Amino acid sequence: MCGIVGVVGSKNATDILMQGLEKLEYRGYDSAGIFVNGQKTAAKLVKSVGRIADLRAKLGIDVSGTSGIGHTRWATHGKPTEDNAHPHTSSSGRFVLVHNGVIENFVELKNEFLMNDSFKGQTDTEIAVHLIAKFAEEENLTTLEAFKKALKLIQGSYAFALMDREDADLIYVAKNKSPLLIGLGDGYNMVCSDAMAMIRETSEFMEIHDKELVVLTKDKVEVMDYEGQIISRDSYTAELDLSDIGKGTYPFYMLKEIDEQPAVMRKLIATYTNEDGTMKVDQDIIKGIQEADRIYIIAAGTSYHAGFGAKMMLEALTDTPVELGLASEWGYDMPLLSKKPFFIFLSQSGETADSRQVLVKVNELGLPSLTVTNVPGSTLSREATYTMLIGAGPEIAVASTKAYTGQIATLAFLAKAVGEAEGQAKAKDFDLVKELSLVAQSIESTLSEKDEIAAIVSELLPTTRSAFYIGRKQDYYVAMEASLKLKEISYIQCEGFAAGELKHGTISLIEKGTPVLALISNNEEVAAHTRGNVMETVARGASAITIVEEGVAREDDTIVINQVHPYLSAISMVIPTQLIAYYASMQRGLDVDKPRNLAKAVTVE
Ligand code: M6R
Repeated sequence: MCGIVGVVGSKNATDILMQGLEKLEYRGYDSAGIFVNGQKTAAKLVKSVGRIADLRAKLGIDVSGTSGIGHTRWATHGKPTEDNAHPHTSSSGRFVLVHNGVIENFVELKNEFLMNDSFKGQTDTEIAVHLIAKFAEEENLTTLEAFKKALKLIQGSYAFALMDREDADLIYVAKNKSPLLIGLGDGYNMVCSDAMAMIRETSEFMEIHDKELVVLTKDKVEVMDYEGQIISRDSYTAELDLSDIGKGTYPFYMLKEIDEQPAVMRKLIATYTNEDGTMKVDQDIIKGIQEADRIYIIAAGTSYHAGFGAKMMLEALTDTPVELGLASEWGYDMPLLSKKPFFIFLSQSGETADSRQVLVKVNELGLPSLTVTNVPGSTLSREATYTMLIGAGPEIAVASTKAYTGQIATLAFLAKAVGEAEGQAKAKDFDLVKELSLVAQSIESTLSEKDEIAAIVSELLPTTRSAFYIGRKQDYYVAMEASLKLKEISYIQCEGFAAGELKHGTISLIEKGTPVLALISNNEEVAAHTRGNVMETVARGASAITIVEEGVAREDDTIVINQVHPYLSAISMVIPTQLIAYYASMQRGLDVDKPRNLAKAVTVE
């Protein structure tokens, strides 16, 4: 949440900041701003409410220089106004700060140190920059000393980039819990919330760890702790491809990412299988799970639903019970654990603060953990014992699609590898390469029906305000994900419900025309019951849409999809629901990729 970018030593500071902010916009998009400075140019601060395009429209040619910092905001403290937009300045205007995170003790800091200051907005960040200024200006400290002193007092999560108007050649950076990365260039250096936003400029990066401070000049990067002790840190080259982050001829990233899913499935086959068809999964991870008496999957949002989608398969193939935990709950309410737990963190971004707080506790308990993520080098990946990468390529649309299907498929390789190591007949008999190839084909077949799905949406969900997805077993889990996707981007109030549970209360919400979307995969007993539940809603006026797997399909079903192995049906059944959400949003004229109030990487708790 919130994106930060900074550069020092480049003639094109404004251009680099604006390009970076455009790439970071998925992290928050309610307001934005840049501060640009240079030895030969006057310092300029420009802020705007709205998107990066609105900020760009406000830039004059005089906004140029060799260094600067920029920010795109997802509001936490204070409304999205220009005064609350970053960068924030001290009273004299000398110090300029951008921040991602939440300062938990900002009220206490204000009361203790800044009672006589007046503030332009309501943000916690403004307190931080006033505090730094106070220490520098009243106690005659250098900027570095003042920053260090403030950092020792500030509690909470932060990625900070600070500039002193009197020294255009320096950027001061610090982080705790929020993501931040250094980019190394030839004659310039950068700082940014993620690597993708810097890859036009560099592929050489350096990590910053929590509670570290970095001083950046055009040709030097100095990492230190808050006492000023220098820390040596190697850089690394990231294999990122700039072409991955374009949307080509697609109107929205989400549609591109939906379309990429067959390729993601095939890439995963190549990544996690040896030439002889055996599984290519780290033996230590397999051993870790073999030794466990329970697998705990911790995640949020769509990743949480992916965990459910993989639960049945993991339990069947590893013969180990699987328990799911909502990251935001488990951070403060962890249940009694089994004797030998193994934790799996599912996270597209690898940066979700809710998940990370659980991982911190898991690490304190000395328990083994695996992060399944799409972002190599992300915080959850670095801090867990093991990592398995989804390799789905950058997911830019806020609504997660290919990461969900990629997570379930990645867990399938893990489940089979563990099952085979255990000598489980079920695991040996499960031909994952063949079955996942069939899933890829099923996805392709559904994707070829886009026009029909778009037509169904315009006919059945044109102005609807509320809807239900229902299903049983695996289909119930898909219903949860399908309803999140519809809510998230079309703003239709939608609930994912266990089909049999509706009649225990919620059926009273069904009115004439309420859309009920039923997911029915190929399990005859369950299919018959779900159909019965659909009829109960139709009898009360609902408009039913059935999404059914071949094998249990009937002529009057709305969407029929290719049948796949039951372990993998949560992948293929979700595809029509992704398209339904996409078209519902698009047909309402909404910004599909950037739904209101949201951000892609949720880096606050
Ligand atoms: O990056 P993560 O997978 O950890 O993110 C978790 C959720 O914030 C995320 O899945 C969210 O629910 C999606 N935007 C939904 O489409």
